[in-house]
Amino acid sequence: MKACECVLILMPVVGNSRPVYEAHEKMASAAGGDCSHDCKHGDSHHEHEPEECPHTCKHSDADPCTTDPGVEDSCDYDRMIFAEIEAMGYKDSDTIKPEDLFEHDMMHFMGTAPMDAAIQHLKIDASHKVLDVGSGYGGPARYLVLKTGCSVVGVDSTQTSHDIGQTLTKRCEMADKVSHVCGKMEDIDIGKDKFDSALVVMTLFHVKWETRVKLLENVGRHLKPGGRLMVEEWVKKSDLSDEQVAYITKCGAPFITPETIATIEEEKKFLQDAGFKVSAVQDISEDMQAAAFHEVEKLQKNKEKFVRLHGQAMYDDNLPFYQLLTELWPLGYLFCVRVIAQNGSDIPK
Ligand SMILES: C[S@@+](CC[C@H](N)C(=O)[O-])C[C@H]1O[C@@H](n2cnc3c(N)ncnc32)[C@H](O)[C@@H]1O
Repeated sequence: MKACECVLILMPVVGNSRPVYEAHEKMASAAGGDCSHDCKHGDSHHEHEPEECPHTCKHSDADPCTTDPGVEDSCDYDRMIFAEIEAMGYKDSDTIKPEDLFEHDMMHFMGTAPMDAAIQHLKIDASHKVLDVGSGYGGPARYLVLKTGCSVVGVDSTQTSHDIGQTLTKRCEMADKVSHVCGKMEDIDIGKDKFDSALVVMTLFHVKWETRVKLLENVGRHLKPGGRLMVEEWVKKSDLSDEQVAYITKCGAPFITPETIATIEEEKKFLQDAGFKVSAVQDISEDMQAAAFHEVEKLQKNKEKFVRLHGQAMYDDNLPFYQLLTELWPLGYLFCVRVIAQNGSDIPK
């Protein structure tokens, strides 16, 4: 798992709303990668990294959960949330209001929409015990608890994200309702007490195909029979050509890989092979694109504050990334879906 890549998908930031037709033009000419963005999000550990992409993230990409990097050693992206907390006027030991974090503690850029969808589709209420797979900084878990009174166990394979999640949950005084487990979902055993529902938001793209069914099977093992699962994920329309992958990677989105982005049919088959019955698939690409435009606008509007808190380099890193995202969906070969599924074959109607 590449923590830095993951943070890219998530940090709330912004940029400029370039018209989408540019993307089509670019794609038409690009096939070989005539990309106007400076690639700064390259991860030197990525197999498909083009040579031109400088590695700027300082996060050590050591095996998850085998090191104890601590917040001080973490990626610059991981520091951002603490700079934001300080800027809000909180001192080190102050209790934090969880709602003050929601702009900053989601490792995606869709705000609270995925959790509102989860509450609706998974029918989460105060009686629910929810499993959040790839829980990041714990923002989604704390939001679910605040909104419904449920309890959540968040599993994340990256030590730094896990540590930050735990720290923030403690500072929000929510440790009675949210617990954090560091581990790979495909490998862990969280005990016999089954969960009512589970969500996997923008996490499967980190997981190679051969591991996906194993991960989903283990989610099923932890869910009650008939328990509902919501997955939000990138999918591709069909097999991406080498040129398309090269284009996207060069433009700063190295998380798009042929090994981890599936078609919707493949994604559904992974779920079925893992024992789930898919009950709904929604295309959420338009919402995602709108959210990316919003991030671009927010970044530009708050540039002065952003640069003061996080530095010019971080701004220059983020802006093209979100700009790229606004252009990805119109290209027509990538989109995003929300899938609702139920565990097991004896599913109540
Ligand atoms: C893009 S972040 C999304 C985090 C969170 N779902 C959110 O929306 O705020 C993906 C997270 O999945 C975690 N992850 C990746 N592979 C995982 C695995 N096999 N098991 C558990 N967590 C994993 C990463 O460490 C990362 O924190």
